[in-house]
Amino acid sequence: MRHILYSQDVSIEEINTIFASATKLEYEKDDSMKGKIMASLFYEPSTRTRFSFESAMLRLGGSVITTENAREFSSAAKGETLEDSIAVVNYYADLIVMRHYEMGASERASKVSSVPIINAGDGPGQHPTQALLDLYTIQRELGHIDNITIAMVGDLKNGRTARSLAYLLGKYTGITIVFVSPQELGISPDIKSYLEKHNVAYSEVEDLESALPDVDVVYQTRIQKERFESEESYLKHKGRYVITLKQVALLKPTAIIMHPLPRVDEIAPEVDGSPHAAYFKQAKYGVLVRMALLKFVFE
Ligand code: CP
Repeated sequence: MRHILYSQDVSIEEINTIFASATKLEYEKDDSMKGKIMASLFYEPSTRTRFSFESAMLRLGGSVITTENAREFSSAAKGETLEDSIAVVNYYADLIVMRHYEMGASERASKVSSVPIINAGDGPGQHPTQALLDLYTIQRELGHIDNITIAMVGDLKNGRTARSLAYLLGKYTGITIVFVSPQELGISPDIKSYLEKHNVAYSEVEDLESALPDVDVVYQTRIQKERFESEESYLKHKGRYVITLKQVALLKPTAIIMHPLPRVDEIAPEVDGSPHAAYFKQAKYGVLVRMALLKFVFE
């Protein structure tokens, strides 16, 4: 049985298999999930991840049971442990896609689950399926993943998508990562040691504009309001990095702008029509990658 908990656990060969399958699924009809049930168990808000997993399962002929606010509307609100909830949902579904507010919650669930667990975000921990669709977007839009320079921008301390993507990029060659953040919200030491171990060149800067002319990908992220202790400390960083057409003008003609979304104010709507904007395409690619991932988990 295969759980998907952390992006570093997926090998390059497996990524290639998933991406080839995702590309095929764009045009081929496939109902290989017929008779299977996916439970989406979300203890934190989501638009893209929950809907795209559910869309993926339905497009593959499978069925879905779902709770969109498990923290309030599941028996967690009555004090049920995560372990008990998982043990019970095991009888209702063949796979559980889970988002939780605590780091490590998916791993905890996997220890008691008799069906595969997919981590759809565990607090400030990881979001491996987002990283897979981000990587797939890079491959589709640039034609390659090796030898790219990427700026990861924003709240890199609390942003699980940047963490998961950095872990995945560590598997490729010729990667350069420029982490752009205020010092207080810098990328954490576990990612830096992983990148050093995998010979990935990285630097940390605070100024966005100086990084833009050299990059192939700008990976913009939101300041993660829900992870701050006070409104005051959040407001100190809100609006720190905003991409407008002024910043877009600094990019190479082939560079793409990505964002896992949701956005707050980090990319001005005037950028949406730019040929550099790839953030809504990520949502489209996300369904294909999640379809491929569902097939992969059940193979
Ligand atoms: N990118 C992402 O995880 O979006 P949601 O929070 O809407 O699922």
